Parts: sequence; C-alpha cells; structure tokens
Amino acid sequence: MTHELNSKPPDYYKALYQIAVEVTSRTDTAGVLDSIVRSTAAAMGVKACSLMLLSPDRKHLLHTAAYGLSDSYIKKGPVDVGPILAEVLTGKPVAVYDVSTDRRVHYRAQAISEGIASMLSLPLVAGSEIIGVLRIYTDKPRRFTPDDIEFLTLVAGLGGIALRKARHHESKEKLYEERLEEKIAQLEQVKEELNKVEQAKNKLLGFLSVVAHDLKSPLAAIQSYFSVMLGGYSGELNEKHRHMIERSSARINGLLDLISDLLDISRIESGQILKEMETVPLPKLAHSIVEEAHRLAEQKGLALKVEIPPSLPPIYCSAPRIEQALTNLLSNAIKFTEKGGTICLKVLEVDGQIQCEISDTGIGIPKEDLPRIFEDFYRASNVDPTSGTGLGLAIVKRIIEAHGGRIWVASPCPETGCGTKFTFVLPIRRNP
Ligand SMILES: Nc1ncnc2c1ncn2[C@@H]1O[C@H](COP(=O)(O)OP(=O)(O)O)[C@@H](O)[C@H]1O
Ligand SMILES: [Mg+2]
Repeated sequence: MTHELNSKPPDYYKALYQIAVEVTSRTDTAGVLDSIVRSTAAAMGVKACSLMLLSPDRKHLLHTAAYGLSDSYIKKGPVDVGPILAEVLTGKPVAVYDVSTDRRVHYRAQAISEGIASMLSLPLVAGSEIIGVLRIYTDKPRRFTPDDIEFLTLVAGLGGIALRKARHHESKEKLYEERLEEKIAQLEQVKEELNKVEQAKNKLLGFLSVVAHDLKSPLAAIQSYFSVMLGGYSGELNEKHRHMIERSSARINGLLDLISDLLDISRIESGQILKEMETVPLPKLAHSIVEEAHRLAEQKGLALKVEIPPSLPPIYCSAPRIEQALTNLLSNAIKFTEKGGTICLKVLEVDGQIQCEISDTGIGIPKEDLPRIFEDFYRASNVDPTSGTGLGLAIVKRIIEAHGGRIWVASPCPETGCGTKFTFVLPIRRNP
C-alpha cells in the first residue's frame, strides 16, 4: 500500500470560517450539519465524513449527517459502541491507519466493502457533554497529522454548537407548537359554541319575525275598525264608549310599535343591512328627517337647530336604516324635552369619520341609568313607563354598529350643561 502524502496543505482556515458562518447564522440544523460533513471532507481531501449522535442510553450511535458514504452503509442501523468508539467517547481522538488489519474495527467487512482505508474519529462535545462522534474516512491509508486532528477537533466543536443550538431551538419550537395547538383547540371549541349560539339566535329571529308578522295583521285590522268607530261611520258613540275605544286604540298602537321594533331588530340581526348598502350624500339623506323633525318640534314649541355642511363626503350605508337611527334619536330628543327647549342636530367630519351629534335641553338621563340606556327595553327612571317600547336606542345602537360605527351618550350635554347628547360616528367607506 502506498501512503497518501499531504502534498497540498489543506485549506483548513477557509473551511473553518465557512463552517463557523453557517453554524452561527443558520437555523436549519440538518442543513448546517450537512454542510459541516461536506466542507470537512472537501477541506481534508478525504472520501467521506460522518457525524453520529449517541442514543439516550449511550449504547449506540446514529448517523445524523454523512457525506461520501453509501446509503446502505449509513442505513445499517444503530452503530454499536465498540472499542474505538468507546475510546472516542472518553474524549480522545482515535486514528485507524488500516481498517483491514486493525483489530479494534467493529464493522470491518462493511468498511472494506465501502472502500474505507483509514478513519479518524473525534468526540463531538456540546457544552461539557460528549454527545457523539465526528469521523472522517479515506479511501487510501493515511497517517493523520496533528494539523488534521486539530482541524477536526475545531470542526467537532462547531458541530457541537450547531447541535446545541438545534436542540434549544427545537425544544422552544415544540413548546410553541404545543401552545399553539392548545390555543387552536380552544378556538375551535369557541367557534363551535358560537356556531351553536348563532344557529339558536337565527332560529329565534325566524320565530320572532313570524310571530310579529302574524300579530301585525289582526292588530292592524282591529285598529282600522277602531278608526271607523271613532270616525262615527258605524253610528254615534257615547262618551264612555268613545273613551274606551280611544284607550284601546292607543294600546293597539303601542303594540303595533312594539311589533315594528321587533321586526326591525330581527331584520338588522339577520344582516339585512348588508343588502341595502349604497353610497349616499349625507345632506340628502338627512333632508326628509329634518323636515319631519321641524314639524314635530314646532308642534311642541321647541327650537330645532340643524348644522349639516353641504360639503360632507357621501357615506356608504343603508340609507333607510341611518334615517331610522336619526329619526329615533331626534324623536327621543323631542319627546324628552319640555316646551321652550332646544334640539340640535350637528353633522361633521372628524378623523375621516362622519360624526352626528343630537343634543337637547330636556329632562336628561339619570347618572345611574346611563350605563344601561342602550339595552333592549331599558327605560330610565325619570320617564313615564307606559309610553314607548324602550327598544328605540337598542335599534339605533344595532344600526350604527352594523355599519362599523360607534354610539355613546352624555348627560348632561357637555356643551350646555343640561339635557342629553347622543353622538355616533360612522366610517366613510366607499362602495367596495
Ligand atoms: N333625549 C333623551 N333625553 C332623555 N332621556 C332619553 C333620551 N333619549 C332616550 N332617553 C332615555 O332612554 C330610554 C330608552 O329610549 P328608547 O330606547 O328610545 O325608548 P323609548 O323612547 O321607547 O322610551 C328612554 O325611555 C329614556 O329614558
Ligand atoms: Mg324612543
């Protein structure tokens, strides 16, 4: 056998630098280990290089990265810790000059058929622990120099760092993965619950709207009979009868209002608004409402001030619903303000949103009622509990929120120190 001469000094520094850069900058450990064995084999001018890791019981080693070895050689399974590996695992480098004659070689036949002549093995150290073996293989017998051993020791050190980094990274990733899985499972559960609630809600809304519709027509029929009777078309009424029919008619009116509010809620809740969306200029939208409010205010001896700049940008909304919201707020302001008072409607653009303010100098809302004032059927303690449905504000809130807006109330009104001020904002969205 001829000795392989190290005629050309191997480019160890360059290789070390390359490996160090990879180890410190990359997180894909498999890629880094692969590049370590590749660069080492190339730098040392040898046939092959492998990196083996110890099993947890420290009895076997497993090929983790290899270059230049056949698949069948690598896949021969866990490598038993024979005499050579046992020595390496005590922390010493072990060189085998001739695989075919060295008695310490465990898998001699396989090594010979793989074309391996010499081997140099070094411990792979992570922190203070030996975790595996870095090994190079030559196809011609080679006497390894102290330079070779030093180079390989440094490479093994870098390999150890790469593995430590990988283990740290993997354990962190696993932790994140576990947490993520936990959160996803929780979310799925919440989604399922929400679906159930949504289904129940839709069922209830369907039921509500059917009942409301069914009640509406007979009530409307009764109401029209009352009108006929009150109009004297069915004969003269005595005072007592007139009084009774008037009271009944007022009750029926209240019921019809309630039904129409309930139907509104069921329409809004079922997403009807989305079908009615269009781009509308605000002054045009407010026009008919303001006219009606003027009429009502005048009837009650109230002043109505309106400030709607014509330059306001159009908004993307359900016009009938925004009209309804404004009507509800204005009619409340008129209803809850005594003769001689003032109602103000002001619309302005604030931070890219349309802001509507409806204020009055009326009876105000007691402080303790303010937090619940937008709830269904809630009415403040200072109003007549028999008139109105207590659903108006709840409807307004639903309408504004269905448009991506927000509504709030202040009482007393901060500017005048009396009455109430409702403010809502709507995003200025164009037709998508
Ligand atoms: N402008 C206002 N001034 C004083 N109280 C108000 C005003 N607007 C609403 N409220 C209070 O909020 C309650 C709920 O209003 P709303 O939902 O419209 O019901 P309703 O008008 O049928 O009473 C009213 O009963 C009243 O107590
Ligand atoms: Mg109302």
